[in-house]
Amino acid sequence: MIVLDKDTRVFTLHTQNTTYQMKADENRVLLHTYYGPRVGGGDLSYLIQYADRGFCPNPSELGRRRDYSLDALPQEYSTCGVGDFRLPSAQVEQPDGSRLLDLRYESCEARPGKYALEGLPAFHGAEGETLSVLLRDPSSSLEVELLYGVFEAYDLITRTVRIRNRGNRPVRLNQAASLCLDLPPAEMDLITFDGAHVRERWMNRAPLRPGVQGVGSTRGTSSHQHNPFVMLCGRDAGEDHGLCYGAALLYSGGFQAAAERSQFGDIRLVLGMQPQGFSWVLGPGECFTAPEAAMICSPNGFTSMTHQFHRAVRERLLRDPYAGKQRPVLVNNWEATYFDFDAEKLLEIAREAAPLGIRLLVMDDGWFGQRNDDFGGLGDWTVNRRKLPGGLEALAPRLRELGMQFGLWVEPEMVSEDSALYREHPEWAMRAPGRPGARGRSQLVLDLSRREVRDHLFNALRSVLDSAEIAYVKWDMNRSFTDIWSAALPPERQGETAHRYILGLYELLERLRQAYPELLVEGCSGGGGRFDLGMLYYTPQIWCSDNSDAIDRLRIQYGTSFCYPPVCVGAHVSASPNEQNGRVTPLETRGVVAMSGTFGYEMDLCRCTPEEREIIRRQTEDFHRYGELIRQGDYYRLSEPFQDPGYTAWAHVAPDRREALVSLVTGSTWAAQPFVTLKLKGLDPAAKYRINGGKTLWPGDALMYAGYPIPPMRGDYQSLQLHLEA
Ligand code: GLA
Repeated sequence: MIVLDKDTRVFTLHTQNTTYQMKADENRVLLHTYYGPRVGGGDLSYLIQYADRGFCPNPSELGRRRDYSLDALPQEYSTCGVGDFRLPSAQVEQPDGSRLLDLRYESCEARPGKYALEGLPAFHGAEGETLSVLLRDPSSSLEVELLYGVFEAYDLITRTVRIRNRGNRPVRLNQAASLCLDLPPAEMDLITFDGAHVRERWMNRAPLRPGVQGVGSTRGTSSHQHNPFVMLCGRDAGEDHGLCYGAALLYSGGFQAAAERSQFGDIRLVLGMQPQGFSWVLGPGECFTAPEAAMICSPNGFTSMTHQFHRAVRERLLRDPYAGKQRPVLVNNWEATYFDFDAEKLLEIAREAAPLGIRLLVMDDGWFGQRNDDFGGLGDWTVNRRKLPGGLEALAPRLRELGMQFGLWVEPEMVSEDSALYREHPEWAMRAPGRPGARGRSQLVLDLSRREVRDHLFNALRSVLDSAEIAYVKWDMNRSFTDIWSAALPPERQGETAHRYILGLYELLERLRQAYPELLVEGCSGGGGRFDLGMLYYTPQIWCSDNSDAIDRLRIQYGTSFCYPPVCVGAHVSASPNEQNGRVTPLETRGVVAMSGTFGYEMDLCRCTPEEREIIRRQTEDFHRYGELIRQGDYYRLSEPFQDPGYTAWAHVAPDRREALVSLVTGSTWAAQPFVTLKLKGLDPAAKYRINGGKTLWPGDALMYAGYPIPPMRGDYQSLQLHLEA
């Protein structure tokens, strides 16, 4: 609900459990007054205190008044160069060369329905509401429109900004953050999700110290190294208690998430596109729209924030027909064969897979052009007839006869120098004149900011997709950007290239979606290098990590779970010893871990023993039985894998709490271990549950408050699943 009091100029956004408020004060400065647990309303600006603070400048119109400074007041969208020395939200170069931006309130409007963003991913839903607040720089022609979307039931507030040049000379934008959140002084922690290729989204929590701290990506992608989802929380906050804020950017390019603890202890979070290297020429009359950011505040700890993000992503970000819906259990040949396969090998795998309950065969890298290793072939999206003599049109029907759908891997954004496409269009690769350009995985990035490149890719993909019945595409992207430069832009606009690339990528993905609405697209960037809400709008699942080791995955999936629901998390069972780290784990455990995602296999099923096949058959059966619960249930983290209690546990609980699936995996073993009593969460305290179909009726309250005794398990990396039914 949006409440506008135009007399006091207090604007309040209420969600089910939270309230967010701002006020345009007597100086027309838009102050942030409150974001936290829901309160009745009224003017909360009484919370703001004024004092004469040394070296904090005062606006000129206040004459001799010294207790008013932009530097000491909570701003709704911070300015630069005119009195606030904390993190700016926008940076500009005015026509006179100054880097100054002052923003004062002009007007506001609330309207039913959530704003939409042309060409950018966004939350959507008929029940959403929009608040638009217009600010203007009194000394220049720049206008900033702050947009807020409110989804009450999800406690979700989305934000973005539109910056307009109302003058007749161009202005340069050097930063346009999507979100600025000023919180009052408090002892708070910043939580980020960081790592590397094959080690994505490890959770890091650290107290905010004075000054700026944060994460970001300058790689042209959201990156393996840092994720555009961050949290701020009270020092004492945990899963079930304490105030916490989650903020995510719906953007798949470089980003910056920075938190600053100021000289007076107050906290500012700024989230948006990466300013480093960004610069956008805003011509007269033009408007720049920043990507959307999403915020959820939970007064009761991380779990409820996670539940709200998961529900909002499933129901208000992902789009039909895959929003929160069933996805086929798949087998992918990558770790089974790498580049060394042909149609017969794939059919062999499919023949093994079909009777085990697997419904989709994904042919990974190597099926096209002269792609026999990762030094060549990218860009040539025509079938390699040596490997697939009959083409896709012969393979797909044979798979269908086996009861399997067909999917394939593509990496459209890239080109190998050893390819027909590169020989024909070397200028389509992103690289500045006179520079050799760094390689990543021996490949170059195609300049998706250019229409002709996108048109070519769309047509190439269309020929592939029209040639056979293809149900699924894995859209990969395997390097970081360097040498960012576009032949299509003049020198003064080169700072636009990286963002125009992402806009081009989104346009291409949207075109594909319009042309093939039933096609399931799985995002991927060397695993989870572009795991963000922006990509999820176009690709409803993303391969979570190239690390398929079940034990490493516990931490990766734990970190991923804070914002992203299991239905989006690509997770497969792979061979043991594991390809990435050589670890040996039981097949059962690998199944338990992968089942907490989209589920599938990434191994040569032809090499499985009859016992292993039987385990796999049972796993797919279990996944089909529990799939709905995993997709739609509330996710509970029951342990902290970074604290290493000897096990990792989590649960999916049905919204009506009548059913739950609890999973637990042990670490490396040691003798004389303490017994584990696992305290469950989210159950109905008054209900009685059967566990794994047993006779005993277990009271929900006892399972939660006293716990369930985990039977001692021998050996490393053991697992169990408890299926509870009330
Ligand atoms: C990336 C993906 C893998 C696989 C390979 C193929 O690394 O993440 O899953 O598809 O590319 O080259």
